[in-house]
Amino acid sequence: MADAPRAFVAGHPIGHSRSPLIHGAWLMRYGIDGSYSAIDVPPEEFRALTVALRAGEWIGGNVTIPHKETAFNLVDRRDAAAEAIGAVNTLWLENGVLVGGNTDAFGFAANLDQRLQGWRDGQTALVLGAGGASRAVIHALLEAGYSRIDIVNRTVERADQLATRFGQKTAAYGWDAAGTLLKSADLIVNTTSLGMHGQPPLVLDMADVRPDAMATDIVYVPLETPFLKLAAEAGLRTADGLGMLLHQAAPGFSHWFGTWPDVDDTLRDLVIADLNKVHS
Ligand code: ATR
Repeated sequence: MADAPRAFVAGHPIGHSRSPLIHGAWLMRYGIDGSYSAIDVPPEEFRALTVALRAGEWIGGNVTIPHKETAFNLVDRRDAAAEAIGAVNTLWLENGVLVGGNTDAFGFAANLDQRLQGWRDGQTALVLGAGGASRAVIHALLEAGYSRIDIVNRTVERADQLATRFGQKTAAYGWDAAGTLLKSADLIVNTTSLGMHGQPPLVLDMADVRPDAMATDIVYVPLETPFLKLAAEAGLRTADGLGMLLHQAAPGFSHWFGTWPDVDDTLRDLVIADLNKVHS
């Protein structure tokens, strides 16, 4: 009998990852004989992991900080999202070929599909932040048909780089422009780490925001960030960021274990309980 398929999440550090909890719950739910484990892989050992993968020791895995760009460079083939975003977070084998995908944009969109009805009808988005998460969000917004994406970042040069990367539907601004850009936004997205447990809050003047606008955050600890609270108080419909984490896991699970898993309240509640345990 063949060994049960083994998948991993590789990062450095890796202790904080919720991915084993998510995939472990799915493995149990669908009665699949397989495993998913967190492995701490320092940068100098990442290449060896790809060798082990190609040799069949693993069925695939997720990669997280600091390996997403290295993985991008080491795979044999990349999916379209990974190419657009410039980072790989999911690895799988196709007939011996090591494929690198990026499921963060999918996760972002699937979360909003589930929790923010009408988000795909928007035209103009305001994206706060210009890091790795911002690239996935911008790709998802372009795929969803947004025709104007304003990128605001403390370090305007990083926003400029993203606008150059993603083209004419995107424009870069410094933080000062946020107040004005808010007025025309259908969807406002925080991709910065502001508002995360232990970080300063994201504070925006929402006075002139459109009443029919929507807001979402990639931060999910806490679930209701100061930014989402401000947005809700201004009358906006909001979606928290936890669903992006849950949904981004689904394509990998499907590649490795052959079943497309459900992202439902049972899974969400399981992860929330774990977050509360750590952050209470
Ligand atoms: P990730 O890959 O998770 O997006 P990152 O690349 O470190 O992480 O990006 C973090 C984002 O949060 C950046 O947009 C960063 O702004 P800078 O590019 O100016 O660093 C933003 N950020 C972090 N702390 C911030 C703060 N105190 N004020 C404003 N923006 C902040």
